[in-house]
Amino acid sequence: MTTQTVPKGKAAAQVKEAASAPVVSSEVAVKPINRREFLYYIWGASIAVFMAQTAGAIIWFALPRFREGEFGGIFTVDPATVPAVGSAPVPNPTGKYWLVNTANGLLALNMVCTHLGCLFKWVDANGRFECPCHGSKFEEDGRYIEGPAPRSLDRFAVRVITAAGVVESDASGGPVKIDGAERIEINTGKKIKGAGVGQA
Ligand code: FES
Repeated sequence: MTTQTVPKGKAAAQVKEAASAPVVSSEVAVKPINRREFLYYIWGASIAVFMAQTAGAIIWFALPRFREGEFGGIFTVDPATVPAVGSAPVPNPTGKYWLVNTANGLLALNMVCTHLGCLFKWVDANGRFECPCHGSKFEEDGRYIEGPAPRSLDRFAVRVITAAGVVESDASGGPVKIDGAERIEINTGKKIKGAGVGQA
């Protein structure tokens, strides 16, 4: 037979207090959201989606779409490899341009004929570009000479980086002097249309 010890004094008071304390349930009552809260959450989610889309669009447009050395992107040219003034233009099939070093500066001519898109050739004997398809002819700097082509050859923007600063093609894609060039960039993503026949 067991004997039960009856608490006395302070212990007895604590037991009495515990017995009289309200019983707290471990289950939390879930209150259903009302219409106002529901609309608030929808509005918040819409704002978050809109912000994410905006950020994605900004990043998409900020990043270059083409890698360096890929047509549509930037091609870096070592100044030491640029043809001497008066020598034959040098083709870059990957970049789809002819590099021409004229007395007025460097040019990058789009390889595609402005008539119907054939690939023209440099004819050393005649000192000009000639298209084998329909006979259009162009000067060394891409200016139209004769044939069915509607305009001079298109150009790509040239950028020359020197210790003194940066020089870029003008709006016509005109030649850029390369004196003191440390690096040369051809931007095949920036094509400048040749002047129309009869235009300067
Ligand atoms: S495509 Fe060059 S002249 Fe016709």
